[in-house]
Amino acid sequence: MSELIVENLAKHFGEVRAIDGISFTVAEGEFLTLLGPSGCGKSTTLFAIAGLDTPTAGVIRVGGRTFFDGGQGILVPPEKRNCGLVFQSYALWPHMTVMDNLAFPLRIRKVSAADRKRRITTALELVEMGEYIQRFPHELSGGQQQRVALARTLVFEPALLLLDEPLSNLDAKLRIKARNWLKELQQQLGITTIYVTHDQIEALALSDRIAVMNKGSIVQLASPQEIYTRPSGAFVADFIGSSNFLRGRMKQRNSDGDAEVILESGLLVRTIWAPDVKEGTEVLVAVRPEHIRLTAAQPIANGANLLTGCITARSYLGARYQYTIDAAGTSIMVETEDSLDQPEVYASFDPEHAVVVLP
Ligand SMILES: Nc1ncnc2c1ncn2[C@@H]1O[C@H](COP(=O)(O)OP(=O)(O)O)[C@@H](O)[C@H]1O
Ligand SMILES: [Mg+2]
Repeated sequence: MSELIVENLAKHFGEVRAIDGISFTVAEGEFLTLLGPSGCGKSTTLFAIAGLDTPTAGVIRVGGRTFFDGGQGILVPPEKRNCGLVFQSYALWPHMTVMDNLAFPLRIRKVSAADRKRRITTALELVEMGEYIQRFPHELSGGQQQRVALARTLVFEPALLLLDEPLSNLDAKLRIKARNWLKELQQQLGITTIYVTHDQIEALALSDRIAVMNKGSIVQLASPQEIYTRPSGAFVADFIGSSNFLRGRMKQRNSDGDAEVILESGLLVRTIWAPDVKEGTEVLVAVRPEHIRLTAAQPIANGANLLTGCITARSYLGARYQYTIDAAGTSIMVETEDSLDQPEVYASFDPEHAVVVLP
């Protein structure tokens, strides 16, 4: 059993509240990602779980064992936690072969020669690096070095796998390959994993659930689909992908969550989902650039979800165009495959693609 429970965890560096009382649970075998901008407290959280840093307050439990309890004064040292930690920098020993890089930490822990050999072979096979066992790190590509770094963690057969931006040193294409491969490996091993990244695409692709962090707090913890389609607030809506925000007031919300909002311009917007707030509350309607249609002629619509505006900027992105539209003083970004020449356009979107968030 290696369920992880984190309760009210805090870490302050003087005035800086790097983590500000966060709580979450990771189920056995689950892949949870901590996602957020640089400096939001992701690494601090991971280090606290691994035991490399002493939190200011809170509780950390893994598989029923208490690793840290600020109130009770319990602090288990890192070597007794059995967490496998992999960093962005591979940190392989440059003067040692792949074999020795994996054997060295096992020797220190007095693992027998036969057991060492078995564990090293298994770990290298898992990361598909068995044939590179006699190479030195400088004889390997970045992606191969990162696999060896992962294997060096797996030889300990850790109860928890903690990965801190492990793919960010790889180039874009290799990163996608490594990401798919990592996901497969994690599923094959069924190992409880916490993954740290500031890359939202990576988080969406890899995770069972994502904890979106901002300024030391978790602002939403949910499945990738829910985070993308039902962002809990403006921060999440804009950090995961990007969103346009239209200011308005709540007109009416139905019990199943769909709602009508009156924009500042007086236009009516129908949305598929809104938080449960009173009529008249100031809200933002979030619509993603790829979900807005631009047309030269007025679309046949029932009067809702339709803006008129002028194209003020346009750029070619290869597969799509990106337009900036000025709609009665509100700037809106639109991404579409359609090429439009005339300055005046209609911008429309479906209620399914509009959600209400609080400012
Ligand atoms: N040793 C430290 N001393 C002072 N401040 C720190 C220290 N480590 C981290 N911080 C601060 O804590 C905040 C969170 O850092 P970190 O967890 O590394 O962010 P992330 O990994 O999300 O980029 C940042 O503001 C950072 O500057
Ligand atoms: Mg970090």
